[in-house]
Amino acid sequence: MNTSDSFVGDFREAAPYINYLRGKTLVIGIAGSLLSGAALRTLAADLNLLASLGVRLVVVHGSRSQISALEETDGHTPQYHNGRRITDEATLVHAKQACGMLRADIEAALSMGIAQAPQRGKSLNIAGGNFVSARPLGVIDGIDMGYTGRIRKIDTEAIRQRLNDGALVLISPLGHSLSGKTFNLSMGDIAEAAAIALQAEKLIYVVEQEGILDAEGSVVSNLSAKEARAMLDENRVQANQRRLLQSAINAVANRVQRTQILSGRQDGSLIRELFTRHGAGTSVAESAFMNIRQAQGTDIPDIITLIRPLEDQGVLLHRSREYLENHIGEFSILEHDRQIYGCVALKVFETGSRGELACLVVSPEAQDGGYGEYLLEHLLDSARARGIRTLFALSTHTGEWFIERGFQTASVEDLPPERQQEYHESGRKSKVFVYPL
Ligand code: COA
Ligand code: ARG
Repeated sequence: MNTSDSFVGDFREAAPYINYLRGKTLVIGIAGSLLSGAALRTLAADLNLLASLGVRLVVVHGSRSQISALEETDGHTPQYHNGRRITDEATLVHAKQACGMLRADIEAALSMGIAQAPQRGKSLNIAGGNFVSARPLGVIDGIDMGYTGRIRKIDTEAIRQRLNDGALVLISPLGHSLSGKTFNLSMGDIAEAAAIALQAEKLIYVVEQEGILDAEGSVVSNLSAKEARAMLDENRVQANQRRLLQSAINAVANRVQRTQILSGRQDGSLIRELFTRHGAGTSVAESAFMNIRQAQGTDIPDIITLIRPLEDQGVLLHRSREYLENHIGEFSILEHDRQIYGCVALKVFETGSRGELACLVVSPEAQDGGYGEYLLEHLLDSARARGIRTLFALSTHTGEWFIERGFQTASVEDLPPERQQEYHESGRKSKVFVYPL
């Protein structure tokens, strides 16, 4: 594939996501350790790019590593309980200093504009303010957590107003109480609470790791909330990622569409996560990402888009819209991230326990990813559930694919009589395959 072909393919893949994200609110929590040097510059450029596409951005920055560095310089040993920092008077001063410095650095980086694209016109406005009110975490297991706080309320109205004005809202991990005290909060708590309170489309965590890692240390690309809970319950997630994954689950359980976790160390991972089908890190959603379901009348235009080019090439038999309307109950479709990428039909013959797999298609841009096989497995399960003992498939171009998956060659005479007649009338001379169930 040459460069221009891959550009066209990539652009076509990204376009639906670009349209989808316009006007949507994303809450992005960024770990403090990523907020300097090259990582900050590239993240800031990508945030600018998102803002220029009309995405409403709420960015919550972390400050853990900066506070620890200030503590160290002052000879103060950081104290933790249950993974939360204990904030005494001195630590609170460090927390305020860290947030002040970070805010200045982030604002400066965001003022640089989009990477490799000289920005014309107005630069991105950044809004800050007292959006988060807090209260003390209190005494936990006999330990006074000091000025470590918990969130009391997120001022969604004020945030929405700033977003409506076209600003990026930047929130520091500090909150204020009604009595005028400042509390040290965690980036994750604020990002999660803000995403839920704003009913954001996505909660995104930009962290050091590439995503949620499984026991072998590989990134898990997609998780339903159920799978994510099982990972936590069965201790299949690294200790330092438990809170992150729990937060992802909380957000999607509270109607945030998706939580995505990705690395801020890899240039462009935010863009790859948002604008490609497979993303870059881990995506957590309430329900499964890839899904095969019974087709409905409203799917017919998508099915036609899938099958027409193959009909024109003679790979598939022509099926009119009227035919599809009358036989839609036979079709199953494969959805990935709400888009349709494949279909298959199961025809049941009148002569009882025999059926035919028909119209198996995976769209060209999604082929070779195992979807064909998923559709086949789904169809075999449905056929078994319907009591079918012999499953036929007729094909002019795809015989090898069926043979490699357990089908055997058969002859026209093996087909039920009504199908034999159709076979001869079509004149397509397809090869016949059979799968004993
Ligand atoms: N003959 C033999 N092998 C084929 C093939 C064909 N016509 N088309 C694809 N394959 C192979 C690929 O090379 C790949 O092999 P690899 O794993 O060794 O690299 C493998 O099948 C891919 O399998 P999978 O990812 O499960 O399938 P898919 O999602 O790419 O979908 C088809 C497979 C056949 C459904 C898809 O190629 C398609 O839509 N083809 C056009 C329509 C068609 O022929 N339908 C069948 C008529 S009913
Ligand atoms: N780009 C899509 C989105 O933003 C899909 C991302 C899939 N990500 C993943 N890690 N599997 O929702």
